[in-house]
Amino acid sequence: MTIQESDTDGGRRPGPGRTVDEILASATEEGRSTLKVLGELVGNEPASVASPAQFATRHLRIDPLALASTRFTGPSTSLSILGNLLRLEMEKHGERVVIGSPGDGLPPTWSQLDLGLDERGINRQVTVPGRLVAFFPAGTLAPAGLCILVDDRHWSREFAILSSTTDKSVAETLLASFRERLKSPDNPLRGRVLQASVADGCIRVGVSPAIDSRREGLILPEEVWREIDVFLAAATTRRDLLRSLGLGTNRGLLVAGPPGVGKTHLVRVIAASLVGQYTTILADAGSMRHALADLYAESDTFGPTLVVLDDIDLVLGHRDAGGDNSSLADFLATLDGVRQREDVLTIATTNDPKSLDPAAQRSSRFDMIVSLPMPDAASRAAILGRHLVPLGLPIDLHAMAEHLEGATGADVREVVRRAILEHGSSFTQVQLTDIALSGRWRANVNRRKYL
Ligand SMILES: Nc1ncnc2c1ncn2[C@@H]1O[C@H](COP(=O)(O)OP(=O)(O)OP(=O)(O)O)[C@@H](O)[C@H]1O
Ligand SMILES: [Mg+2]
Repeated sequence: MTIQESDTDGGRRPGPGRTVDEILASATEEGRSTLKVLGELVGNEPASVASPAQFATRHLRIDPLALASTRFTGPSTSLSILGNLLRLEMEKHGERVVIGSPGDGLPPTWSQLDLGLDERGINRQVTVPGRLVAFFPAGTLAPAGLCILVDDRHWSREFAILSSTTDKSVAETLLASFRERLKSPDNPLRGRVLQASVADGCIRVGVSPAIDSRREGLILPEEVWREIDVFLAAATTRRDLLRSLGLGTNRGLLVAGPPGVGKTHLVRVIAASLVGQYTTILADAGSMRHALADLYAESDTFGPTLVVLDDIDLVLGHRDAGGDNSSLADFLATLDGVRQREDVLTIATTNDPKSLDPAAQRSSRFDMIVSLPMPDAASRAAILGRHLVPLGLPIDLHAMAEHLEGATGADVREVVRRAILEHGSSFTQVQLTDIALSGRWRANVNRRKYL
């Protein structure tokens, strides 16, 4: 691969075996300045700040008027992933590829694409083209010679194939194949759990730490799991059937319930069960509030996508509650827009479904609403069991569960944590009962309110 930052090397030679320098060396002083002016007139710009278009016309050996650009402007993550595909192609074709300046006299720039932790817990990153133009001669990327321009600055985000107008259809086919590859294993983020946030008003998607939440760890009534299975069928067993009947494979699930009953845990179980098939995007509060439409647009980058909007009532309110309702209006409009997409699942969680606008609950926005109840005594005993069985202590779980009337799953977990903090791995039924009844496992202030 040859890196070329200015217009003075490479490109079309002005005569067989003669370089620009050789011609200039043999010219008179007057001839040299005339050639320079001519060069700048033809190129419109001083030679050292060649634009990608000038780079392309020179390498493709075409007239500027015969240059065509086949562009893709997509969500920000797609640019990084396309950049990664470009990197792979550059490596594949090695020395034959010529890299040029992205314009404005700047050198080619590269960005880091974070791939998250590998099996050994080491953070993996790849360096991908950020802003540059690359020339691929005929017979490398395509039968015809082409240039690819990538620009990942958030205000210009562009991936374009520069070709001669006669090769425009070749460029279009190539761009389509690049876009297809976004949804294939060539996209290293596809099928994983990602975390979305907003920076500079623009969605950033990064790899989230692995989720290993499993169903067995979450004690919920059978009917809740049945509903979850119906929801998941749209992504798994019934997906092809729904699609073949033209009934749509999108689905929205609203999970409601008081704090600490396992809503977030449930969402993580669902995301973990879809790893490899669906890409999960966990939206943070900023992206839910400011960039929801962009977040859904990221589904174009990944194919089948699960969008998780946890604690949605923190950013959305009721239309009648007064105040700024623009985020609610945006939210409703965005969910309506999602219907045009395919294979998008949405799960939102809320402490209080009534605080959500009835329009948001309407079946076309959320197909299902599942309420997680407070755990009954048997569930509390089972949750205690999840935490206590590994310790092998002789504790009567059902008796303990009776002492924890009104406690959520999160409360039960906190009682066990408090016992471990006070007594280590060995404590008695009496000690655990004392902690449960004393209430000292509770934080003194209402953390939910003040933190
Ligand atoms: N039914 C349950 N079975 C097992 N563990 C539970 C259950 N409910 C809650 N927990 C545990 O309690 C902790 C808190 O649960 P989680 O964060 O899912 O609650 P939440 O409903 O999302 O609460 P919030 O409304 O505050 O976000 C988690 O560690 C979770 O595993
Ligand atoms: Mg939660």
